Amino acid sequence: MTLSRRHVLRMTAGGIVLAPLASACSGLGFSGGGNVETESSAGNVLKSRTELPDPFATPLPVPPVLAPLRQDAAADHYEITQKRSTAEILPGMRTEVWGYNGIFPGPTIVSRRGRQTIVKHRNDLPIPVVVHLHGGKTPPEHDGYPTDVFGPGDNHEYVYPMDQPAAILWYHDHRMDFTGPQVYRGLAGFHLVHDDDEDRLPLPKAERDVPLMITDRAFDEDGGMIYPARDPSLRGEPGVTDEFMSGVLGDCVLVNGAPWPVMEVTNTRYRFRVLNASNARRYRLALDPPPPEGPSFVQVGSDLGLLGAPVEHDELQIAQAERFDVVIDFSSYPIGQHVTVRNTLGEGPTRDVMRFVVARRGTDDSHIPARLADIERLSRSQATVEREFTFARGGAEHHGVTLWTVNGEPFDPERIQADPELGSVELWKIHVLNVPHPIHIHLAPFQILEPSQPATAWKDTVDLGSGDKAEVLVRFDGYRGRYVFHCHNLEHEDMMMMANFRVR
Ligand code: C2O
Ligand code: CU
Ligand code: CU
Repeated sequence: MTLSRRHVLRMTAGGIVLAPLASACSGLGFSGGGNVETESSAGNVLKSRTELPDPFATPLPVPPVLAPLRQDAAADHYEITQKRSTAEILPGMRTEVWGYNGIFPGPTIVSRRGRQTIVKHRNDLPIPVVVHLHGGKTPPEHDGYPTDVFGPGDNHEYVYPMDQPAAILWYHDHRMDFTGPQVYRGLAGFHLVHDDDEDRLPLPKAERDVPLMITDRAFDEDGGMIYPARDPSLRGEPGVTDEFMSGVLGDCVLVNGAPWPVMEVTNTRYRFRVLNASNARRYRLALDPPPPEGPSFVQVGSDLGLLGAPVEHDELQIAQAERFDVVIDFSSYPIGQHVTVRNTLGEGPTRDVMRFVVARRGTDDSHIPARLADIERLSRSQATVEREFTFARGGAEHHGVTLWTVNGEPFDPERIQADPELGSVELWKIHVLNVPHPIHIHLAPFQILEPSQPATAWKDTVDLGSGDKAEVLVRFDGYRGRYVFHCHNLEHEDMMMMANFRVR
């Protein structure tokens, strides 16, 4: 892998160089043309070079569910071809997409808990790829380690045991140094896990159970997606141009690949499985107007499955890679009401996300029970080891630009920063500096102790603002071997904000 990396990396004389944000901006050459949204999201806004469509005009698409190629006693078998194609994202324009089966979002894979799922990927793209099942409890050789790439014309078979509770997982590209541009071009899809416990709940089902993948993009004059890669062929030098070091933010919000879409609903409850698959943008979602009665959102699940009990929210703050499983009850709105999902962290066009139109009456026998699932609550005393990780800018450079690092060290596949024992629980203290960083751990689910949470939840990503500290209890169940943990701002990840642990 890191051939180019080894050329360009120049380690500083040791220790962490922490650039305060204000001077870091000029030092990194933020040359204007966008805001550095330090409070809400780390990054610089790319401006589209074409007129963006009117919001709330495009119907919300729902990604197709992938049919298995075959099912046998041992497993469900799927095939996906990663390829280029075009999509009409902006009305009347063709946008090139690099997608799973050529579509963005990719097809949704649906698995049953405990039933092995085998996905054979074929790479018809001009670049190497690797697929990660985000949230999967997956053996290391199938987890999509960043250097486990397969090249153009090659196939790779991923075997997923799916020995895990019902949850909203997603799959996406994870190629070393190039995850940001490859996901941006379209390599992301849902992978839902269901189980009997979830099926028994009287939550909204079928067409009232809808996945929502939120992303932001910018478009050029021909409708192509703009990404400030140093080498747009994605075959040479990795990384983005200096002014986008903090992250790439688009000015057009897409839900399931459509710009500010609209969805007609009946005056009933709906379940939405919300995923923020953006490279660098985080959102705070609010309903405008809020329902005349009751909360805007009732959360029933988090990254890795159901909560013990529902939690009411007026706003949902969702960082990159996080998932919120929520119910919205439209029954107290009058028929004909427009309900707009706003992003209260956004500005201008990125303040809007999508719209619901309460079009008709419907019948509803769903409800939200007071108890959803049995969630084991980890306690501090179970932790046998404590570790500290600081995610910040500093410790390594690239063309004179200071990189993003973990404990002052850039990613190196050979360096193991933690060696937890299989089956153990560890207390990880995570500190983030300079800008917000959403921190994701592969394989091992965790519970957030600090900052204190409204409910016990199994998470794989924790959303932290600049200067924030978190304490998480991580359970290393499943498999021995090497896995990564990293910042899920994809530009930070590509610019080295990643580290290894090895379960022993
Ligand atoms: Cu969603 Cu390592 O990533
Ligand atoms: Cu992951
Ligand atoms: Cu980061």
